[in-house]
Amino acid sequence: MPTSDDVASLHFRGQTHEFPVITGSENELGIDIAALRKKTGAVTLDYGYINTGSCESAITYLDGEKGILRYRGYPVEDLAANSRFVEVAYLLINGHMPTPHERTEWSGLLNQHSMIHEDMRHFFYRFPDHAHPMAILSAMVVSLSTFYPELSQHRPEEPEEAIHIAATRLMSKLRTVAAFSYKKSIGEPFVYPRHDLKYCANFLNMMFSSPVCPYEIRPEVVKALNVLLILHADHEQNCSTAAVRLVGSARVNLYASVAAGICALWGPLHGGANQMVIDMLEEIRDSGTSVRDYVEQVKASKGRKLLYGFGHRVYKTYDPRAKIIKKCCDDLLSVLKVNDPLLDIAHELEAYGLHDEYFLSRNLYPNVDFYSGIIYRAIGIPKEMFTVMFALGRLPGWIAHWKEAREDPRFKLQRPRQIYVGPNMRVLRDEDKTREH
Ligand code: CMC
Repeated sequence: MPTSDDVASLHFRGQTHEFPVITGSENELGIDIAALRKKTGAVTLDYGYINTGSCESAITYLDGEKGILRYRGYPVEDLAANSRFVEVAYLLINGHMPTPHERTEWSGLLNQHSMIHEDMRHFFYRFPDHAHPMAILSAMVVSLSTFYPELSQHRPEEPEEAIHIAATRLMSKLRTVAAFSYKKSIGEPFVYPRHDLKYCANFLNMMFSSPVCPYEIRPEVVKALNVLLILHADHEQNCSTAAVRLVGSARVNLYASVAAGICALWGPLHGGANQMVIDMLEEIRDSGTSVRDYVEQVKASKGRKLLYGFGHRVYKTYDPRAKIIKKCCDDLLSVLKVNDPLLDIAHELEAYGLHDEYFLSRNLYPNVDFYSGIIYRAIGIPKEMFTVMFALGRLPGWIAHWKEAREDPRFKLQRPRQIYVGPNMRVLRDEDKTREH
């Protein structure tokens, strides 16, 4: 537990106020300003929450300067090399690696909840053909609350078991919904989940098999998918997780909170960047622009044009996830004998960015989204589905944070303050008044 034997002093308008200093288990420091407004009458102003911690959390540790990422204390490199995604999901949600018994039970539950209600199938047919799968995904997830209303109303005394089942249901069904939304987009019949297949193989089968053509499940592809999902599984207070916590703070149910997370993830500065990276690489390929010229355009644009897949709010060094993904990408493409010209452009862009003063001086390095899309392409997943893949991976993190927040006795309605800078009090003139209603 964090300790609080230190204080920070604030000199403000002739007075000194003291605030407790909180030290985390990895010596991260925070100043607890809960009493700031009461003591000084002032609030803090921190656009983008660059310096603002919203909670204490025991789920993920991240050191952006050293490139460290650990889930529940385990280095992500270790988990990616030695675990399956569902075990890591269990770890994040429950706080410990599953025992053999828990693993079997968890797999059984994931199988048991893998189908979606047949009535939900009809929802897919009502979306227009060009509907983005992230819009479908969020709509489907919030719709789950209508089929499982027991969690729809917040009850503080909600039994743990109900939360556990809702979390399992979401973990399993999101995979089915994702695969169905892809099948809908290409006009093929849905393929139902199979109990004899493990999580990732099951997903690939639902995506790529059809009544006329079975899908050959290759272990290298299953392994790569496991690695990708593990690397996306949590990233502490990122935008979508913060959205899940904020929406959850109004005590809304898990399905609605996760749907909010999916919407936040869709944005191109966050999870949507993986699709933008491929758009960017295709633009470079199709326009015949050299990598050098493209980078120069980015630099000259003063922030209006970005090098997608580069930069991160907290990593000021190479993103440890990107390192693993880059290797995974090279290995998989060589095993599958895929020669993707976009990979060559990506390598060239990375090499250029890593030596250019603009990127070096701003600590802009490749992030998790830079190479992930090339792997998805090699597997056969279209770029519109990339952010859906990110959502599948991030789901255990969202669930873990929603649960952790709910179990924290300090969990309050999240309601930021503001500094009002609009007009002072004004009076409507006679001519402004509507006389007829
Ligand atoms: N390309 C070009 N310039 C950039 C980039 C980029 N990708 N990222 C940041 N900069 C510049 C920015 O213009 C600013 O320049 P200046 O100091 O001259 O004004 C400087 O670097 C600092 O950037 P910032 O916008 O203040 O940094 P931030 O922490 O607010 O932004 C970011 C983080 C991820 C939104 C940003 O780096 C970005 O837009 N990257 C591209 C989108 C992307 O790849 N997002 C995925 C993030 S990783 C997956 C996830 O967790 O979501």
